[in-house]
Amino acid sequence: MKVAVIGVGHVGLVTAAALAEWGHDVVGMDDDAEKIKTLEAGEVPFHEPGLLELIERNVDAGRLVFTSEAREAIADQEVIFVCVGTPSLPGGGPNLSYVERVGRMVAADATDDVVLVEKSTVPANTGQRLGQIITHEQQRHGQRVQISVASNPEFLREGTAVEDTLHPDRVVYGVSDDLALERLRGVYAHVVEQDGCPVVETDVPTAELIKHASNGFLATRISFMNQVARICERVGADVDVVAEGMGHDARIGPHFLRAGIGYGGSCFPKDVDAFIHLARHVGEDFGILEHVREVNGSMLDLVVTKLRTELWHLDQKVVTILGAAFKPGTDDLREAPAMHLARRLMAEGATVRMYDPVALDGVARELPEVERFDDVRAALTDAHAAVVATEWDEVTALTAADFRELLDYPIVIDGRNVYEPASMRDAGLHYHGIGR
Ligand code: UDX
Repeated sequence: MKVAVIGVGHVGLVTAAALAEWGHDVVGMDDDAEKIKTLEAGEVPFHEPGLLELIERNVDAGRLVFTSEAREAIADQEVIFVCVGTPSLPGGGPNLSYVERVGRMVAADATDDVVLVEKSTVPANTGQRLGQIITHEQQRHGQRVQISVASNPEFLREGTAVEDTLHPDRVVYGVSDDLALERLRGVYAHVVEQDGCPVVETDVPTAELIKHASNGFLATRISFMNQVARICERVGADVDVVAEGMGHDARIGPHFLRAGIGYGGSCFPKDVDAFIHLARHVGEDFGILEHVREVNGSMLDLVVTKLRTELWHLDQKVVTILGAAFKPGTDDLREAPAMHLARRLMAEGATVRMYDPVALDGVARELPEVERFDDVRAALTDAHAAVVATEWDEVTALTAADFRELLDYPIVIDGRNVYEPASMRDAGLHYHGIGR
């Protein structure tokens, strides 16, 4: 099929490459001409394992091209995916002006019947709004082609985005007419036939809501366990074993029960905000999610309290944060707990060092006063305390002996519960996990 992807950020670029891999003819379009130049030069503007190879393979096969010309990308397509950003507004709702702009561009430039598919995470009823704008614009331009709005949420995780997209655990799309149904079936025919992956075919608002409900629920699991972790600390229990015991219940399952310093990234914080905002807009008080957000923020307080307990005050103390990215496998610093923690520690007068294997350029841009290390041992040498924020392999491979040898004071706050508490304490470390 002939497919365009508008917005080649993390979701858009992976989507474009996967669609090409399934045999479609794909144009990836972005307003950012620099980004397009980078892609044309054979580089990927962010860290995502396996993506460069996937793009190269499909560019070489002639199935994937990039452009910054909207008109060129939009004309003569069967399906157009909207993958532009929906950043949070100050009130918590998402900024949908980029999505709307794509709608207007497609209304102006589509030359044939086309399905416009929302992949960006948007609140329920965005599809209906988009349809309205398109109708107004088409009347204004005297356009007659059919533009059908559909929703096809994306569930990829950064760091495993290629695998998640090529072999999804489900495909969800919401449509309002046969054109969209037939074309989306065509888009996913390959992966559904080959992988036997389940498909949920529904209406547009339901598909939109599935995305927010999924991310809201996953965030809830994490905050639930983080709250349990806080209780574990009070009663002398171990949250990791509690999670293991719970996870064997088939109704609960083992995933997303890891306690730690909280979730970050470009999705959970923003989607939780947006879901609360949507609920309020329709007259519902989504108190559970408000609490999820609060608990998430409180996990950094817990880390700072543990540091203060050990270090008395933080002024002029040297603290090494191990990991900057919001999780391993990515250089994404958006809402990364490590970055929020660094700001808090520096505000209390600490000198902050950060180790990260791939995200240091971003740290330099956002927090130039942080001392940056691409060598984990150098980052620890002569520091007063270490905090694990991201469970990179280089971090989990450290032993109690390494910390004893390198740190000035033997203090380790393990914000991701990656080390064995007994061996750390036996080695004489002042070791604090989360909820253990
Ligand atoms: C998430 C969703 O998983 C994905 O389906 C959606 O499309 C986008 O948002 P992502 O943001 O890439 O993906 O990261 P994810 O792996 O879900 O982790 C999010 C955050 O939660 C990370 O900061 C991670 O450290 C934290 N986390 C995850 C926990 O604290 N505990 C867990 O048990 C799992």
